[in-house]
Amino acid sequence: MGLTLRGRTALVTGASSGIGAATAGELAANGCELVLVGRDRQRLAEVAERCGGRALAAELTDEAGLDLVVTAARQVDLLVHCAGVGWAGDLASMPAERVAELAAVNLTAPMLLTSAVLPELRRRRGHVVFVSSIAAVGVRGEEVYAATKAGVRAFAESLRLDGIGVTTVFPGAVRTPFFAGRRYDRRFPRMLTAQEVASALVRGVQRGRAEVFVPAWLAVPARLQGAAPGLFRGLARRLG
Ligand SMILES: NC(=O)c1ccc[n+]([C@@H]2O[C@H](COP(=O)([O-])OP(=O)(O)OC[C@H]3O[C@@H](n4cnc5c(N)ncnc54)[C@H](OP(=O)(O)O)[C@@H]3O)[C@@H](O)[C@H]2O)c1
Repeated sequence: MGLTLRGRTALVTGASSGIGAATAGELAANGCELVLVGRDRQRLAEVAERCGGRALAAELTDEAGLDLVVTAARQVDLLVHCAGVGWAGDLASMPAERVAELAAVNLTAPMLLTSAVLPELRRRRGHVVFVSSIAAVGVRGEEVYAATKAGVRAFAESLRLDGIGVTTVFPGAVRTPFFAGRRYDRRFPRMLTAQEVASALVRGVQRGRAEVFVPAWLAVPARLQGAAPGLFRGLARRLG
């Protein structure tokens, strides 16, 4: 079921940058009160100035930081898990601490935060958004990132089966600081803007969509993987 946003309270993690900041703007434009979570106090304050709402600086990988966010999240109708980190390169050279960081920010924090506020979410008939990635289908050179995003997808699916309103968003490549220092050589698909993802995310929540692919045609490879995994792998090896 879709969520009417006017008059609702939303908490957005990763609100200090990129897709999270754009989502905060889009939710504010649709009449939401906001709790904006990030680490960089200055960028968070700038987003709060632009969108209204309360800035909450917190490190999601430590207990004290997560506790702060859990306390705030008990009061909200919409929980948007947008904070995330990436890593691309030769898996053998990936430092162990980066593996742990990706797992902690991208997967453990959303699971801990969601489960801590589940009774309140049920009572308020709340809705949860997970920003996964098209990388959830598996990407060469981004094995750990892909695994965290596939994990988020499975967590979201399970939560939905449990009766919670859930939207999972699968963007392609988006021009944000997430991509800073990395090359994007493909001419197709073009890189998205954070605003395009934020608009699709909010529309998906309003319409009660289970999954939102941005751009929408990215649903095709994701569905192909489920329906014809052998064909998908062959194509992924040739095009990936
Ligand atoms: N950009 C893409 O191509 C792309 C594609 C598909 C999916 N995504 C997903 O979209 C989401 C947002 O990415 P983005 O592109 O908007 O990246 P971004 O601009 O780099 O923003 C990442 C956000 O996550 C927050 N964050 C990172 N580590 C954190 C931690 N330990 N504790 C608390 N907050 C933390 C950052 O906070 P501070 O900046 O304040 O530290 C920032 O607000 C991520 O989940 C990413 O995986 C991105």
